Amino acid sequence: MGSRANGVAGDRTGTSNGGGATVDKGVDFANYFCTYAFLFHQKEMLSDRVRMDAYFNAIFQNKHHFLEKTVLDVGTGSGILAIWSAQAGARKVYAVEATKMAEHARELVKANKLEGVVEVIEGSMEDVTLPEKVDVIISEWMGYFLLRESMFDSVICARDRWLKPTGVMYPSHARMWLAPIRSGLGDQKMNDYEGAMDDWFCFSNETQTYYGVDMSVLTKPYSEEQKKYYLQTSLWNNLHPNQVIGTGAIIKEMDCLTATVNDILNVRASISSSITAENTRFCGFGGWFDVHFRGCKENPAQQEIELTTAPSEDNSTHWGQQVFLLHPPLRVREGDGLIINFSMNRSEENHRLMEVDLSCEIRQSSGNNFPPFKNKFYIE
Ligand SMILES: C[S@@+](CC[C@H](N)C(=O)[O-])C[C@H]1O[C@@H](n2cnc3c(N)ncnc32)[C@H](O)[C@@H]1O
Repeated sequence: MGSRANGVAGDRTGTSNGGGATVDKGVDFANYFCTYAFLFHQKEMLSDRVRMDAYFNAIFQNKHHFLEKTVLDVGTGSGILAIWSAQAGARKVYAVEATKMAEHARELVKANKLEGVVEVIEGSMEDVTLPEKVDVIISEWMGYFLLRESMFDSVICARDRWLKPTGVMYPSHARMWLAPIRSGLGDQKMNDYEGAMDDWFCFSNETQTYYGVDMSVLTKPYSEEQKKYYLQTSLWNNLHPNQVIGTGAIIKEMDCLTATVNDILNVRASISSSITAENTRFCGFGGWFDVHFRGCKENPAQQEIELTTAPSEDNSTHWGQQVFLLHPPLRVREGDGLIINFSMNRSEENHRLMEVDLSCEIRQSSGNNFPPFKNKFYIE
């Protein structure tokens, strides 16, 4: 199929977000896709050695999946995964990209003398028609804490329309993890919040003194707004492994060959964790993900590859971890048990952002228990 003019930015047609609600494509493009049109953003991903090594090894150590095969790269960006697929021997690679980055990808493909194999298609995956079904779908769709950005919906759509029944997904599996952590970020964010409120009270007093308007009725909504921003919004952080103070637990496992949008609209888990650090502050939770390249049952990988975004001293990624802070932190000891209920839904205002409800009960090894707590967080 030939390349298409970008019909996305001005296209106001609604599509479903998988949950039944309608998504305005123009708004979605302005809020989400536009950042991917910058080489600066693509370079950030291309500079992530953990990410790059994992995809590179997955492809080149499993050439049997690519040799003489047809490949679809969902969200090709700069074209890197499509180029590697072609270099690994693919017969044909369809490289679909929603943004103008497709033009750079086309140039890169040409400069690497692969234009006979890789066809860059500018358009939204949901709207693209391919001339044939493919043997492999490759995509780097993972957002913060795996599901932010909701790009896996587009991969599911591509899979259900274009993957042969014998086809393979790259990556093939994904998991989300949660663990208790210690961190100085909580104190910092509480100081920021208190500073913002002090500033509000100065502003409110001055407005009364100089302009004769009593602003105090807005104190509560301002405080709620600032609380949401400073205390309830999860934070990007590269945690050191010694900040993880208890056992990590899996909150979601997905087989990319069979997962449906319904499976990821609401992620719920009841998990437990034990504190492994001696006597420490429990400051919140760290969340991360990993994906695996295992091929499929009928056509397994020769070399299974893992891409993990777990806290690491040497192998951090641009995804880092998402940190959900507790205010105030609690003192815990080795052997204390945590019973955690986790629920994550898409934000109603923006289906690419998430809302998390986390409740936790702490069973102290001493026999005393803290009262259970429940917090709401926003992954923005
Ligand atoms: C995380 S980047 C990965 C880029 C590239 N594959 C890589 O690994 O470096 C995701 C890319 O997918 C594109 N994308 C996201 N959803 C898409 C869709 N529904 N149709 C086409 N492209 C999409 C984005 O514009 C972005 O360039």
